[in-house]
Amino acid sequence: MKHFNIYGLPTDRESKRELAHRKLSREAAAEGMVLLKNDGTLPLRGKKLALFGIGARKTVKGGSGSGDVHERYNVNIEDGMKNAGYEILNTSWLDGYDKIFDKARADWVQDIERKIKGFAPWNVIKMFDVIHESTFIWPMSDAVKTSDLDDSGVAMYVIGRQAGEGADRTLRENDWFLSGNEISDLKLLASHYNKVIVVINCGGMLDLSPLDEIPNIGAIIYFVQGGQEGGNALGDIISGKISPSGKLTDTWARRYEDYPCADSFGSMDGNPDITDYREGIYVGYRWFDAFDITPRYPFGFGLSYTTFDITVKQASSQDTQVTVPVTIKNTGVAFAGKEVTQLYIEKPQGKLSKERQLLSAFAKTALLAPGECQTIHLNFDIKDCASYDEDTASFILEKGDYGVYIGNSSADTTLAAVVSLDETVVTERLTNICPVTENFEEIEAPEHTVLYPETAQRLHISADAVKTRIVQYTKPEIHCKTEKVKGTIEALTETELIELCVGGGYGGRVVNNSSGCAGRTTTKLLKHGIPNINLADGPSGINLMPKNAYTKSGSPRYVDALPADWQWGWLKKIEPFVLAKPGKGLRAFHYMTAFPVPALQAQTWNEDLVTTIGAAIGTEMLESGVSVWLAPGLNIHRNPLCGRNFEYYSEDPLLSGKMAAAITKGVQSHDGIGVCIKHLCCNNQEERRDYMSSDVHERTLREIYLRGFSIAVREGKPWTVMSSYNKVNSVYTPNSYDLLTKALRNEWGFDGFVMSDWNATEGDKASHCKALSAGNDMIMPGSKAARESLAAGLQDGRISREDLQRSATNILNLLFDSAVVKGDEKL
Ligand code: BGC
Repeated sequence: MKHFNIYGLPTDRESKRELAHRKLSREAAAEGMVLLKNDGTLPLRGKKLALFGIGARKTVKGGSGSGDVHERYNVNIEDGMKNAGYEILNTSWLDGYDKIFDKARADWVQDIERKIKGFAPWNVIKMFDVIHESTFIWPMSDAVKTSDLDDSGVAMYVIGRQAGEGADRTLRENDWFLSGNEISDLKLLASHYNKVIVVINCGGMLDLSPLDEIPNIGAIIYFVQGGQEGGNALGDIISGKISPSGKLTDTWARRYEDYPCADSFGSMDGNPDITDYREGIYVGYRWFDAFDITPRYPFGFGLSYTTFDITVKQASSQDTQVTVPVTIKNTGVAFAGKEVTQLYIEKPQGKLSKERQLLSAFAKTALLAPGECQTIHLNFDIKDCASYDEDTASFILEKGDYGVYIGNSSADTTLAAVVSLDETVVTERLTNICPVTENFEEIEAPEHTVLYPETAQRLHISADAVKTRIVQYTKPEIHCKTEKVKGTIEALTETELIELCVGGGYGGRVVNNSSGCAGRTTTKLLKHGIPNINLADGPSGINLMPKNAYTKSGSPRYVDALPADWQWGWLKKIEPFVLAKPGKGLRAFHYMTAFPVPALQAQTWNEDLVTTIGAAIGTEMLESGVSVWLAPGLNIHRNPLCGRNFEYYSEDPLLSGKMAAAITKGVQSHDGIGVCIKHLCCNNQEERRDYMSSDVHERTLREIYLRGFSIAVREGKPWTVMSSYNKVNSVYTPNSYDLLTKALRNEWGFDGFVMSDWNATEGDKASHCKALSAGNDMIMPGSKAARESLAAGLQDGRISREDLQRSATNILNLLFDSAVVKGDEKL
């Protein structure tokens, strides 16, 4: 070992960077919360407020699992309201819930300790499996009693829910359904207080139907999970300092059964190992529109304290581009606000049945003062509206009329123009991928025809304007970006090439240290000038250990105590060995910002703001020595019960792809760091995630589940991609040449490296050798078994030296480009 580098700040005083990012986190949280109902209760002018509900003091700032962030502090809703100047008189109910919460948490810890009792201390993986499958769910509350009520006049009730990696949500009370006590509490509050404000502190939707029966619910806010400044952000909204401008990125159904895969999600149909995506392309609003189901709140919906007028001007086209100028005016008198304009396309029916509308462009205004206007040019390429025709393996635009609608929600649009195409054209000629192995029928949507009014503005696009893109499918060339990469790859033996393609695990001599990172590249090739780089989780911030002391040999130790949620079980057993001696060790602090969860970030519909968050995360990565951020996640919200929906953006692929591209651009605006978009693909449930097969027809796969990834890759150019745990049509995604080489590299032009999800290729799951030859360059987090199996594969021809060199080159190109390596002069 020649040396080690540690990163972070030398003191635990709050830095200027932290102060700036806490402001950004608050701004983003306020901009993404959605006002679902308001009868004039908000903004709240009085100064007294009664506060109840699970999430009021125990506010859930983000979901659990790898998507968590160990932030310095978390402003809960109670404190946020106080900071906004509201007086909260009676806290006896909240104090009572604290006791219930603490007891439930102690029981949960005990239960896990019992489950892991027999495990050897080094059996980290099994231990984490147990933890992941046992998400701590906030316990039910006691009923509010009349003695808890006061004369505040207005009550706020916060419905809190926690979910996370490893387990899906359930159709039980205190989860999808309100608990009996929550319903009776709301009834009691409505009978006592003049107005009740309901705040939903949950990473996804839930059943709000009981609220329909309760009078006096004056306002409903979808707070989601607002990061460490969530409480303050809510204070900004409640007080009227900021007018809400978030819009839903999912369709909120009146009842669970209205969702297309309601009865077959996870093991609901009795088979947890195969899920047929029978609803096809009809996911989210595409389903509700096509089957005429009225949602509770439509996709794209959200209220403001002010009102806007949207005027559409003459649209124009050039080649295949269509531009619609839209003027938005704040017609209110009291509040400045922002509005989101959304452009939807209705495609002509033809050989393929089509969704009634699909989001094709959107934009958010600047903050408009009362009376102020802004003109925005919404722009789309008609080629992006193409549908995939499996018979000819191509994306086609069928001839006919394309309706262009503008509005501020999917249910509130007006026809802006009709674009007609004279002939059916092929936009991309591809090859078929991921064949269905166990056939099943997709649900057919009812027929639908539309006649546009004579008066509509007409634009014509000639078939000749559409140039067909023909994709060539070849194994990518080995492309060394620099002479240094070339020379190093040539100097490596086969065993060393294998080292590079397998993650560095958790032991070994580490050159670059960032305590708490989820993984690292190999630590064994230092003699070739290849130090390790670090990969840390997201996507709401950077998941690292905040307080560290490094020993003389560079091993991280925790300062004071293990993080609060780690103080049990095996971790507790090793605590004496991992805690720093008082005053000893080289201190390094990583107080990373907990931004609002991505589901909330997407609700801002503000790409620039999301890029700014990405740039802030990039600053924190450089400060903490993280080279690859294991985020963003852009799996589709196929069903509202997926436990990780808070980590993902939306039911809509365009919005998901744009948000992922936006944050990627922000992070990668800094030299020497990159993101990892994940999990490619169809990882839309947590139950049996590492064994189940998502069975999906190719058209659906391409138009819904791959589209966001293709947008993020083409527009954001992420450094890396993570394959998922599950199978797609019976093939584990890390083993899928179709996904990882044909789609990702040949079609979308990706030139970074692909890594497996953690331990996805171990044991009886996907094979290491198949993964490498499919284009999964790096096996994570790395193990002896992976190295041995790749070595055996090289011997018996399951992988070639060329495969190894290709993957090693993909990794080294970025590793040598990383800031920590470029900045490392001592090697
Ligand atoms: C998760 C990934 C995460 C990885 C590393 C896995 O369990 O699915 O999203 O990046 O762990 O922590």
